[in-house]
Amino acid sequence: MLVVAFDKDNIYTYPGDKYDSGVEDATIVATHMVLAAAYEGVDSCWINFFDPDELAKALDLPENEQIVCLIDLGYANGDGKPLANHTNRKDLSETFKFI
Ligand SMILES: Cc1cc2nc3c(=O)[nH]c(=O)nc-3n(C[C@H](O)[C@H](O)[C@H](O)COP(=O)(O)O)c2cc1C
Repeated sequence: MLVVAFDKDNIYTYPGDKYDSGVEDATIVATHMVLAAAYEGVDSCWINFFDPDELAKALDLPENEQIVCLIDLGYANGDGKPLANHTNRKDLSETFKFI
């Protein structure tokens, strides 16, 4: 199990001081971990359904570390099939807007 977190004291803040790139940078890293695992033949499951504060406490992480997600690594059951979401498609008009 991978725990993906970023250091809140070491993040890029965009001009205007309203937003920082902590979550998006950690998410990019997590995505690459998933892709690298797949390249090596290892399956994964992105997990966000947990309490990050509870986990940080259990792991005794310092205050500045913010957990973004967990990534399970392993080998999928051979009988596993992709979820219906892989092929179900919403109409483009429901997800895309020209402005
Ligand atoms: C942002 C995000 C959060 C997710 N959180 C969970 C989670 O907490 N628990 C879980 O079982 N799957 C979670 N998933 C789904 C799995 O990672 C995986 O995408 C899903 O089981 C579908 O597998 P498949 O893409 O191989 O069909 C999450 C997916 C995403 C993109």
